[in-house]
Amino acid sequence: MLTHRLLRILLPCALAAALAGLGNEVNASPDRAHHADATARGGRPLAVWMAGNAAPALARPDYPTLVRVFNRIAQMAPTSQGFDRWGPIAREGAGAASSKDLETARRACKDCHDTMRAAYRKTFGDIALP
Ligand code: HEC
Repeated sequence: MLTHRLLRILLPCALAAALAGLGNEVNASPDRAHHADATARGGRPLAVWMAGNAAPALARPDYPTLVRVFNRIAQMAPTSQGFDRWGPIAREGAGAASSKDLETARRACKDCHDTMRAAYRKTFGDIALP
């Protein structure tokens, strides 16, 4: 499932890079890597980060990594109105992960997605991670 998810993200980039490279020398320049990263998931850096970090840590589950994931999410809290529950939800997730409480951790993911994902995507979806 993880492999599948990664392939879904990486394959289009790899294909685009391969096509872009036709007729040119093969080159893995930072520019190209940056481009591939920015176009993944429609140019949504947080979605890319979540899929690469939060999802696999929850799926395993890898609790120490999950704690770090939630703490990192807490640092990314937007300061604008409507996102005041972001930090508390992320810290609740970190607490649950450190006591290996998978259901509460999973609920923290869902709580945030249900209440703030759409608004985040609309306003901040394309910005680089803080
Ligand atoms: C406090 C908020 C918050 C928490 C907690 C959170 N996420 Fe997210 N997550 C987001 C937001 C916002 C997006 C959408 C980003 C975008 O599309 O620009 C997102 C996107 C994702 C995505 C990309 C696909 C999608 O649904 O858009 C995955 C996968 C994901 N999260 C998994 C997780 C998992 C697993 C956890 C818990 C371990 C988690 N997230 C916890 C806010 C959160």
